[in-house]
Amino acid sequence: MRTLAFILLVQIAFCLLSVAFAGRDFYKILNVKKSASTNEIKKAYRKLAKELHPDKNKDDPSASEKFQDLGAAYEVLSDPDKRKTYDRCGEECLKKDGMMDHGADPFASFFGDFGFHFGNGDPHEHQTARGANIVMNLYVTLEELYSGNFVEIVRNKPVLKPASGTRKCNCRQEMVTRNLGPGRFQMIQQTVCDECPNVKLVNEERTLEVEVEAGMVDGQETRFVAEGEPHLDGEPGDLIIKIMQTPHKSFQRKGDDLYTNVTISLQDALIGFTMNITHLDGHAVSITREKITWPGARIRKKGEGMPNYENNNLQGNLYITFDVEFPKKELTDAEKEDLKKILDQASINRVYNGL
Ligand SMILES: *[C@@H]1O[C@H](CO)[C@@H](O)[C@H](O)[C@H]1NC(C)=O
Ligand SMILES: *[C@@H]1O[C@H](CO)[C@@H](O)[C@H](O)[C@H]1NC(C)=O
Repeated sequence: MRTLAFILLVQIAFCLLSVAFAGRDFYKILNVKKSASTNEIKKAYRKLAKELHPDKNKDDPSASEKFQDLGAAYEVLSDPDKRKTYDRCGEECLKKDGMMDHGADPFASFFGDFGFHFGNGDPHEHQTARGANIVMNLYVTLEELYSGNFVEIVRNKPVLKPASGTRKCNCRQEMVTRNLGPGRFQMIQQTVCDECPNVKLVNEERTLEVEVEAGMVDGQETRFVAEGEPHLDGEPGDLIIKIMQTPHKSFQRKGDDLYTNVTISLQDALIGFTMNITHLDGHAVSITREKITWPGARIRKKGEGMPNYENNNLQGNLYITFDVEFPKKELTDAEKEDLKKILDQASINRVYNGL
């Protein structure tokens, strides 16, 4: 009876809590579990922001609201303090604590400024003047390319701001005809400009979130639109992040396959063994050999290579090449006789094989 009363009480408490939690369900909006890591939250935001951007959903009247919900969900769940408050007592609490009035749109930190250009080839086909692109190498580990990661880059970006006065702009060469007197003309080329409101360059700190996607390859590029050099009369160039893989101490990558070397003892080589290789994300790859393993033997572990970039469910292979370490100690005459008996290789002639 007491247990029942207790359960009832708990249920009532839950009802009250869910009323108190009224507000948006940020986990549901981002489609992540309550236990999601910050990386998972960033990944979910980046994926959904591409799908839900209002420029891509012009027919959906609620697109803008959905996109704002997504931005708010990201802002709260990506910030440990805000997330803790939200988990404790929902959006209302955040509002009460003044933690919800930020209103910043995280979109630019994942894709760059200037709206929605990505995914359709060259975003700058039109003839507007453009600042230079900036290419930046981002050095990443093989572990990051295996599991995926987000890397924060802080960029001091020169941004155009209004300033007092005017400046000459849209300058171009024009031919003008000057009258030099009766019947005499001169054609000269002359620079003609418009007057524009003045601007100045102000450095602004931008945090960009670069997604190192699982399976990305050395040299692969990610483009942040309009985060490059500014242009006074046009659009800024792009910032291009180039993924560069640093060498790994035990794995080598070729395409989606991984290669590694393992040294085993002569004893293991002859009688078989079981061992674990620690993979790039820490999981153990178990290797069992019952047969004899000769130096240079290579075994293949299917599906233990890198994830494929286009389809993370496909994985390459892991190739393990064995080296055999021979014993260094001298054998006694008795041990030598025993080995002879065991190995029984007297029938093999020592042949000069030309190597
Ligand atoms: C494995 O050994 C071969 C031959 O010595 C070497 O070329 C290769 O780089 C090694 N691979 C790794 C991942 O250390
Ligand atoms: C290999 O790893 C598995 C799983 O982590 C563990 O159960 C097993 O004991 C390990 N084997 C060896 C030989 O270390």
